[in-house]
Amino acid sequence: MPNADPRLIVALDEPDLTSAHKLVARLGDSVSYYKVGLTLLAQGGLSLCQDLKAQGKLVFQDWKLHDIGAQVEGAAKAATSGACDLLTVHAEPQVMKAAVAGRINPKTRIIGVTVMTSLSQADLDDMGYGMSLTDLVLRRVDQAVECGLDGVVASPHEAAMIRARVPADFLIVTPGVRPVGADVNDQQRIATPEDAFRNGASHVVVGRPITRAADPVAATQAILAAIQTI
Ligand code: C5P
Repeated sequence: MPNADPRLIVALDEPDLTSAHKLVARLGDSVSYYKVGLTLLAQGGLSLCQDLKAQGKLVFQDWKLHDIGAQVEGAAKAATSGACDLLTVHAEPQVMKAAVAGRINPKTRIIGVTVMTSLSQADLDDMGYGMSLTDLVLRRVDQAVECGLDGVVASPHEAAMIRARVPADFLIVTPGVRPVGADVNDQQRIATPEDAFRNGASHVVVGRPITRAADPVAATQAILAAIQTI
């Protein structure tokens, strides 16, 4: 059986802490990196993050911070002094600069959400952006680099064009990943984990194909087998 691979981040999008703990126990050694999102963070999820670290796991706190600089700096200070290997902020320059200024632990990576993958061009037009989704993603990538961020969250379809313009160690974390044959759910622009890495992603975030599988360990092992040679 392939070993856990820290390039595979499992999204613990469970409704409550009890089911999240159960899922982590079930996945055991097959998963080494977890994403904890707002639903769990808003109900005491930091204790889960600490527990994951105590088990030797890596922890992605998906706060998607977006506020005035002072608030973002304070939140980044708090998050990066705890059980947090990876932290998200929205990729606006004021927000990104404040997050970098607030970072306590230099090992915590801070990455910017470029454009939410749930947003379409029609949504951006409706919100008054007046530019193409691709141009907005690339502008935010460039600004993330300028602001000293460690990477971005982006669709696997954008990974190749992002990889071509960022430093080699810049993280490209891609949700919207589906193994061959998996349910698409509400994801719009999907790619297989193999293709996400071929396109230059550094990490893939996988939720429901693992967490809703009849056998989550087998689903994880299948993904690990698919990516182990890439
Ligand atoms: O779809 P899946 O369950 O694999 O989602 C994993 C992660 O991808 C979620 O935690 C969320 O952050 C992100 N996501 C997304 N766009 C969607 C649905 C989920 O970026 N439409």
